[in-house]
Amino acid sequence: MSEAGGPRHVAVVMDGNGRWARRRGMPRIAGHRRGVEVVREMVRACGHRGISYLTLFAFSSENWRRPRTEVEFLVELLISTLENEIRKLHEGGVNLRIIGDLERFGSRVKLLVKNAQQLTSVNNKLNLTIAINYGGRWDIAQAAQRIGVDLAAGRLAAEDVDESAFGARLSTAGMPDPDLFIRTGGESRISNFLLWQLAYTELYFTDVLWPDFDEAELDAALRSYAGRERRFGQTGEQVSMGR
Ligand code: IPE
Ligand code: IPE
Ligand code: MG
Repeated sequence: MSEAGGPRHVAVVMDGNGRWARRRGMPRIAGHRRGVEVVREMVRACGHRGISYLTLFAFSSENWRRPRTEVEFLVELLISTLENEIRKLHEGGVNLRIIGDLERFGSRVKLLVKNAQQLTSVNNKLNLTIAINYGGRWDIAQAAQRIGVDLAAGRLAAEDVDESAFGARLSTAGMPDPDLFIRTGGESRISNFLLWQLAYTELYFTDVLWPDFDEAELDAALRSYAGRERRFGQTGEQVSMGR
């Protein structure tokens, strides 16, 4: 829990860029461009609100299925945004982490990610995680693969393969699970985001398109979260006794 019982970790599926642009008679990529500006605003706003972890879904393992020109634009936009923003993020005390299968990208992206993570690793104002070529099923499968390797090497015993051993091998190792999940753009689905990690997360769906998302919309999501009772399997009576 952060200030005033707010969420410590917020995870966001930033959806609706394409529709935002098409409604204005603009190409879909104009929506992605505007979406980056909203990311900048949200990083600042979450920092101000005492949120410690912000995890953003920027590109899914399924998004490669889009037209080649859009995929190329998105990858270039990711690279240039990372290049242009890293210094400001660092100055703002942001600790950046990229999750997802980076094998699909070239050495330029891998080096950029490595340097950005290294540079900001000392920061602790806001832990910003960007999911790129990420899929929840991929994450679970790669954790299983690591467990297999550790079992074969004798570093791990079969009876020790439990939830914490699994969590420690997910790409989100060391992070608390999200408290609040926000999806913009009107769809009520997870779309292969953090499948394991969202087990007990409060879900919030809004029709607002990502390029229109702002501080007021964030506060609406936070108010909705504040009104929920998180029972984690217990009864409501138990939860109120514990308060
Ligand atoms: C989200 O917006 C951004 C990415 C998935 C990269 P979309 O591009 O999915 O926008 P819509 O859903 O088509 O409006
Ligand atoms: C989810 O949005 C992925 C990201 C926001 C990166 P999509 O637009 O790809 O999701 P679907 O295809 O509508 O489920
Ligand atoms: Mg979409």
